[in-house]
Amino acid sequence: MRRVLLFLFLCVMGIRTLFAQDPARFFNQSDLVISGVYYYPEHWDESQWERDLKQIKDLGFDFVHYAEFAWAQTEPSEGVYDFGWLDRAVDIAARNGLKVIMCTSTATPPVWLVRQHPDVLLEHENGTKSDHGSRQHPSIYNNYYRTYSLKMIDRLAEHFGTDARIMGWQLDNEPRPTRDYGADAQQRFRNWLQKKYANINALNQAWGTAFWSQTYANFEQINIPRVSQQFMNTHQILDYNRFTTDEISNYLDEQAIAIRKYAKNGQWITTNYIPDYGSGHLRKSDALDFHTYTRYMVFGDNYGVGRKGYRLGPVERIAKANDFFRTIDGLYGVMELQPGQVNWGRINPQPLPGAVRLWLWHTFAGGSRLVCTYRYRQPIYGTELYHYGIVGPDGVTPTPGGLEYAKFMQEIKEIRTKYRKNAANPAPYEHRRTAMLLNHENEWEMEKNKQTTEWNTENHVDKYYSALKNFGAPVDFIDERNDFSKYRVVVAPAYEMVDAALVQRWKQYVEQGGNMVLTCRSGHKNRNGQLFETPFAASIAPLIGAKIDFYDLLLPQTPDNVLFEQQKYPWTSWGEILIPDKETETWASYLGDFYEGRPAITFRRLGKGSVTYIGVDSQNGQLEKATLAKLYARLNIPLLDLPAGLHIEYRDGFGIAVNYADKSHTLPLPNGTQYLIGGKEIPCAGVSVWLE
Ligand code: GAL
Repeated sequence: MRRVLLFLFLCVMGIRTLFAQDPARFFNQSDLVISGVYYYPEHWDESQWERDLKQIKDLGFDFVHYAEFAWAQTEPSEGVYDFGWLDRAVDIAARNGLKVIMCTSTATPPVWLVRQHPDVLLEHENGTKSDHGSRQHPSIYNNYYRTYSLKMIDRLAEHFGTDARIMGWQLDNEPRPTRDYGADAQQRFRNWLQKKYANINALNQAWGTAFWSQTYANFEQINIPRVSQQFMNTHQILDYNRFTTDEISNYLDEQAIAIRKYAKNGQWITTNYIPDYGSGHLRKSDALDFHTYTRYMVFGDNYGVGRKGYRLGPVERIAKANDFFRTIDGLYGVMELQPGQVNWGRINPQPLPGAVRLWLWHTFAGGSRLVCTYRYRQPIYGTELYHYGIVGPDGVTPTPGGLEYAKFMQEIKEIRTKYRKNAANPAPYEHRRTAMLLNHENEWEMEKNKQTTEWNTENHVDKYYSALKNFGAPVDFIDERNDFSKYRVVVAPAYEMVDAALVQRWKQYVEQGGNMVLTCRSGHKNRNGQLFETPFAASIAPLIGAKIDFYDLLLPQTPDNVLFEQQKYPWTSWGEILIPDKETETWASYLGDFYEGRPAITFRRLGKGSVTYIGVDSQNGQLEKATLAKLYARLNIPLLDLPAGLHIEYRDGFGIAVNYADKSHTLPLPNGTQYLIGGKEIPCAGVSVWLE
């Protein structure tokens, strides 16, 4: 619908080039990936720019990233624009053979704007406001800010949009919905609701306002829900989350449209998202050409494989971002990757030697077409002191991570020479390809109505994801806009909110040969987050071939087990007691309580396909893994059994293995494999690349 509206808008404007464009045309496939780095000319004396950009080129980078937070420098006072310094910085980059990514700097308005229009500042729930002196303090819901920032972008795009030295644009910085209680935000929320609901009665129904005397007489009575107020209407919160998601996506679309008015010579437009899969806005800006993500791996969290796993981070952290962002537009980029220690963790340890190169190869393995690092020079003033760069505080000495970048870029140059057009991925790998169907709204709902502190929606999803990656399966995260029929198996974990049309699509997919895996908490609610006026999950009962009698939630100190093929698997968080239909197989049942022996996991054939229903969330994901293994065996899909921390992917005719484990492993590859980098033995933090 949004695409249709955008299309009509653009037709009316008669400017076809405003569309998101096929992203493949912006990249040479044979380049495989291009690398770049954030450089802030405005932070350094102009006499150093030439030296710095020359060294950036010498280290092997292909592009630089400019002007992300430079609004104060590009518009020093109202309506007075100064692009001269930026022109000179672009000139020097070009002279050194570097392309440029230009940014819109909307995260950092200049002080004159904030002082003249204090209403642009975020208003917090307690009535206090943000202030100048940081970033991300303006409100995108503020009408003046919205209009004024687009004016600035228009001028910037007018100046650089036809400049062939600019390769593309990054909008804003790590855009994400913020909370603002200002007057414009309140009004925009009401307008949004008015568009969604035919009248106030429809809203009252959807929000269940008969409960606790919450009924509204008109839209003007509605406010943005308070976080601090306990027991706030959850249906209202659901709509508010949808509203903020739409607002951020629309703002990005507006920015893209403003730029595309000028940028007709093949400059692409993207933004740099934090991979926060539950936040909902990541897939919604239709005007972006492709998506990029930012990823930090080492910041003192106690995770990864083994005692010092925190020096590498968990393999799934990059893998999941790759698999999520690639499927949105068919290709993706990585806009920020740390080159060493960061400054913002609780504890900021050194990454393991080799970690930076490992991450780079891992972003490559998922199919990325550009990778950019944050940042070139270590800052010597400002909030991010102690944040490593490609070079240290002296501005010239490469850091260990900087040297690892240089090594990666050298290696990429070498493997480019082995590139073969149209090389296909190995058939067994493609055979394992699996879709995971996600809708962030389910996460919003379940995290709001957890029912047990033992439940964690993202962990539930990750249990399936990690298992699939251990099997060596390529995974595509998809949403309801995608065609399910491309996939042999679709896993839809804890898909709580459904409607009849979606369940019908699942049924058709299965009848035509698809294999659906559904899990606990699925099908309980309608799209307003209300329970159906039926027995629990009756919406999916005919599909899964089972009814849900009731569900149980255990205390953390008294886990029970599920018995699956003579093995016990502990659980505490969510267990549904199933009543299978006659033809439905029971694959696992409960032990240890008043429902001992009753089914927890079922499987049924339907048409040419099958439905597996896993009604329980295990403590460590081993039950989920064992169940998927049994399903894939039934489907004759051969799996690998990779150790924790080792992943294998394929792209462009290359196999890539990355090892985040704390020890060496032997790759399950035939003797005679032609390694280009590394070999069959892959050490901790090692990378192997071979010709397929
Ligand atoms: C990112 C942010 C960058 C920079 C970086 C520091 O989240 O997008 O602008 O602040 O963190 O690690």
